[in-house]
Amino acid sequence: MAKAVKAVKKVASKKVATKKAAPKTVAPKAVAPKTVKAAPGILAVNIGISDADRARIAEELSKVLADSYTVYLMTHNFHWNVTGPMFNTLHDMFMGQYTETWQALDAIAERMRALGHYAPGTYAQFAALSSIQEPKGVPDAQQMIAMLLSANEALSRTARQAFDCADAADDQPTADLLTQRLDVHEKNAWMLRSLLQ
Ligand SMILES: [Fe+2]
Repeated sequence: MAKAVKAVKKVASKKVATKKAAPKTVAPKAVAPKTVKAAPGILAVNIGISDADRARIAEELSKVLADSYTVYLMTHNFHWNVTGPMFNTLHDMFMGQYTETWQALDAIAERMRALGHYAPGTYAQFAALSSIQEPKGVPDAQQMIAMLLSANEALSRTARQAFDCADAADDQPTADLLTQRLDVHEKNAWMLRSLLQ
């Protein structure tokens, strides 16, 4: 019997070029929050403020949120770390201020959501959006007061700019919220300034 000769196909093994992937270092991308895509029909936000105005107001609110978060954290930080003969006064005063500011963060972020936009919620985003310089090290009590005074005033300027934007677009709830924030932070600034006089 003739043996069937099997043709064996030799498959040339292809060399797969292996690129050495450089280790990926993901740099935190500190950017403003993404705009929610316009939804069709019933899902579209239709509250009588144009898409462009809602986007503009949300952008301003994201800066107010970032400044508020920074003021909150700085005030809590100083509540923990203040020292000196004014300890009790400052420790208690800072607690009152950071507690109030902490509670306001929610209202600011949720107003952004009601306008159809996402709220920033990471340290990277807050750092990119905030107009306030964070403290380095542990300042002394007088420096803490001066830094908080300056931070509350910076936040007031940001809130005032956002108010103008909301007011021009007939956005009463945002204007109302920002009026309240201005009242609080300008009062905080007055009280802090009084400690230095
Ligand atoms: Fe405490």
